Amino acid sequence: MKRIILTVLAAAILAMTASAQMKVEAAIDFSPENENIIPKEIYGQFAEHLGSCIYGGLWVGPDSEIPNIDGYRRDVLQALKDLKVPVMRWPGGCFADEYHWRDGIGPREDRPRMVNSNWGGTVEDNSFGTHEFLNLCEMIGCEPYISGNVGSGTVEELAKWVEYMTAADGPMAKLRAENGRKEPWKVKFLGVGNESWGCGGNMVPEYYSYLYNRYQTYCRDYSGNKLYKIASGASDYDYNWTEVLMKNIGSRMHGVSLHYYTVKGWNGSKGSATAFNEEEYYNTLGKAVEVEPVIQKHIAIMDRYDPDGKVDLLLDEWGTWFDVEPGTNPGHLYQQNSMRDAMVAALSLNIFHKYTERLKMANIAQIANVLQSMVLTRGEDMVLTPTYHVFRMYNVHQDAVHLPVAYDSERFTDSNGRQCPYVDITASRNAEGTVNITLTNVSLDRTAEIVVNLEEKGKAQICGEILTSENIQDHNDFGSPDKVRPAEFKSFKVKDGKLVVNMPAKSIVSLSIRK
Ligand code: AHR
Repeated sequence: MKRIILTVLAAAILAMTASAQMKVEAAIDFSPENENIIPKEIYGQFAEHLGSCIYGGLWVGPDSEIPNIDGYRRDVLQALKDLKVPVMRWPGGCFADEYHWRDGIGPREDRPRMVNSNWGGTVEDNSFGTHEFLNLCEMIGCEPYISGNVGSGTVEELAKWVEYMTAADGPMAKLRAENGRKEPWKVKFLGVGNESWGCGGNMVPEYYSYLYNRYQTYCRDYSGNKLYKIASGASDYDYNWTEVLMKNIGSRMHGVSLHYYTVKGWNGSKGSATAFNEEEYYNTLGKAVEVEPVIQKHIAIMDRYDPDGKVDLLLDEWGTWFDVEPGTNPGHLYQQNSMRDAMVAALSLNIFHKYTERLKMANIAQIANVLQSMVLTRGEDMVLTPTYHVFRMYNVHQDAVHLPVAYDSERFTDSNGRQCPYVDITASRNAEGTVNITLTNVSLDRTAEIVVNLEEKGKAQICGEILTSENIQDHNDFGSPDKVRPAEFKSFKVKDGKLVVNMPAKSIVSLSIRK
């Protein structure tokens, strides 16, 4: 009998602890010693010729019945404008090292076809090429980031591409004008190869760095355009790659890239994007936040070779990678996007904000219909994903001063031993003096009371927004496009110069504090 009572008591205590509200005290540093700006490029996107990212996702062609402006989907264009996309990387990814830009210019009906051998063997008709991409960037007001072909292209080919896009005069400028564009475009970001250790040529870092030096020599600055050259960087834990590039390339590159995916493993099942249990949920978050020590270690190497911080680190591919949706082409990487993805996005962006002294860009993979995308499209329908909503809620941090936040949240340990706080907070102040705080409670069952110091008592105007849903597996689909969407948030009060926020479990809250 005694044993039964004790067991019941223990179970009750356990249940109480599990459901007890978490209390977190947070202190924002409103006057940081170093005023680090969160570059808007941390909110970058990536668009590859892969599955229906470009064709069907961004581009349907001017003759399509799907509403479009000059061939670009009207709905997606609007969604991307609302997102304030700062930079878009194109045409790959692995595709970039098989892409020959001359195939994608001139009359569309005359453009040659190719097999997209990296991604499902789909036939690529090249109807979306240089003009279509650079005009899209102009339409949504973002910087283009061109990823050049080193793996299977020549030095001459890359050099001429730069000239074609950016020179005001000369043979390439003439060809461009014949194809309908007289004025050169401004192209700042130029990637010299992609994943050169893998799909970009299976190179060793020594070989790649010498090749980089050669290719970049002939990529010139034309007509006032200034290139920012990016070396193809390491895959997550490959610190030697960064070391060799820093040693051999040094300041001949403006930035070196890094790729980090939140993926269970590269062999076997990566797990379903929507059917997952609690353990898989916390493991996914554990893997996502492991990007922090990875970034730290790459930065530590860069600091040794470049103590003055001249070379930037660019995380130009990141995001979740799950199994493709049943019945879809395995090579098209089409996956759903749930509240779990929203949590991954929020935790990742919070981490990126802390390293912007060196980390100057991050591009989530990918913008439409591929991996952790912003939008999903089917025929003429489009849905915004939970990740889209996070990016929209977070865009207030673009180009704002990062305000470090000190807080101590309870943590979970995932089944791989990785730790992650349940409550995570980031803050910034924009040019108008508005302070934006974004808070994440990743716990599946516990609410959180967060007490935040305010700069001064009273008078501030605060408005809030929340992203949450009944189940962490919830997602938006074509029959239910608004299952997960932001709503107004009012569960906060100001008391004695402190902001007290009550967050439900599994929620992301943004608060805007205007003076
Ligand atoms: O984003 C999908 C692929 O992942 C990219 O093409 C490649 O660079 C990476 O391996």
